[in-house]
Amino acid sequence: MNKLFFLIQVFLFLITISAALPADDKLANIFYERNNCQCATAFADFDSSPSSGPFRGFVAFGQDENGSTTIFGAFNRGFNPNCTSEFLIVDSHGHVKYNVTRGLDVHITSDGGTEAFSHRFSNINLNCHSNGILLGGHSARSGNRGYSGGSRFSASSGDHQATRPIQKT
Ligand SMILES: *[C@@H]1O[C@H](CO)[C@@H](O)[C@H](O)[C@H]1NC(C)=O
Ligand SMILES: *[C@@H]1O[C@H](CO)[C@@H](O)[C@H](O)[C@H]1NC(C)=O
Ligand SMILES: *[C@@H]1O[C@H](CO)[C@@H](O)[C@H](O)[C@H]1NC(C)=O
Repeated sequence: MNKLFFLIQVFLFLITISAALPADDKLANIFYERNNCQCATAFADFDSSPSSGPFRGFVAFGQDENGSTTIFGAFNRGFNPNCTSEFLIVDSHGHVKYNVTRGLDVHITSDGGTEAFSHRFSNINLNCHSNGILLGGHSARSGNRGYSGGSRFSASSGDHQATRPIQKT
């Protein structure tokens, strides 16, 4: 798990660095005018007991300049390989905003963990549009540094289910 956590930290760091580089202002302007999105990252941490239920793992979110969001991560336990599993993004009231089960296509391993998963969702954004999952569904592009619009990531397997907050990094 530590190795996985480390790799994810490195990945998030690289996203942050590449977003911060003054690489090509002209290109950046084109992206800004055309797409008006900033790169942003977030994570849901399933490493604390008891709020993570039986699950142990990490889910990370990276929004690109076009407002698409890549969700990636892995779990190392909590899943029953004989049961169907489900992955959802829910709002602060527990209502389903996005069912990412089919998109993520998470493969459960025989030891109850998962293979690493990654999928880019063109219909999910973090904070670029008013429906961004870090924005709570109301104010668009406001200064939401540090935390979150109350959205949570839900993992379930058989009778077990846990949700963890999606926090801006
Ligand atoms: C964003 O959109 C532009 C223009 O359509 C495209 O050239 C670029 O590759 C896209 N960026 C990503 C990360 O998909
Ligand atoms: C899953 O099913 C197999 C075959 O029926 C069984 O041997 C195994 O113990 C089951 N695993 C769990 C976690 O229930
Ligand atoms: C989410 O999608 C999966 C796979 O398509 C489906 O089995 C499940 O019922 C859906 N759950 C909800 C709450 O829509």
